[in-house]
Amino acid sequence: MTSHAVPSRTRVLVLIVGAAILAGAPGRAQDAASGEKVFLQCKACHQVGETAKNAVGPKLNGLFGRKAGTIEGFSYSPANKNSGITWDEATFREYIKDPKAKMPGTKMVFPGLKDPKQIDDIVAYLKQFEASGKKAGIGPAGKLATVQQ
Ligand code: HEC
Repeated sequence: MTSHAVPSRTRVLVLIVGAAILAGAPGRAQDAASGEKVFLQCKACHQVGETAKNAVGPKLNGLFGRKAGTIEGFSYSPANKNSGITWDEATFREYIKDPKAKMPGTKMVFPGLKDPKQIDDIVAYLKQFEASGKKAGIGPAGKLATVQQ
């Protein structure tokens, strides 16, 4: 019998606490609050939320899971309308890094977000908004809270 062996229950606890601290460390997780600041770069053209209207660009409620070019009442370019894209995290990340590369001919005049952290944060921010513009309220922070209990 080795006297220095840590009882396994204690070891499991240490692991759980360690993971919670890592996940909660600032700047590591996707961050909807920081995403709101990133969205300032989009706000000249896009709106989100319950009162959102189409402007220079279409409203961005309920983005993930819907087909590109399908917001009613917005006049899309053929490039967007016929892109065949369904917005999910992967397609959106590629697009927002360099919109004209992902979608040649788009009329979105935006050079793209080059900082991967900004892309993480804008994804977290936009994911909050359901198609109605209401906030779903189960962001990464919500999941984190359950893990930490
Ligand atoms: C200068 C105006 C402008 C800015 C700034 C801008 N956009 Fe756009 N965006 C547009 C326009 C216009 C379209 C429609 C493009 C088309 O029809 O080709 C568009 C389309 C989109 C679409 C596709 C929507 C759909 O329904 O298929 C997404 C997603 C999007 N923008 C996200 C963003 C995000 C996120 C930002 C900020 C990081 C941003 N845009 C900044 C003008 C802009």
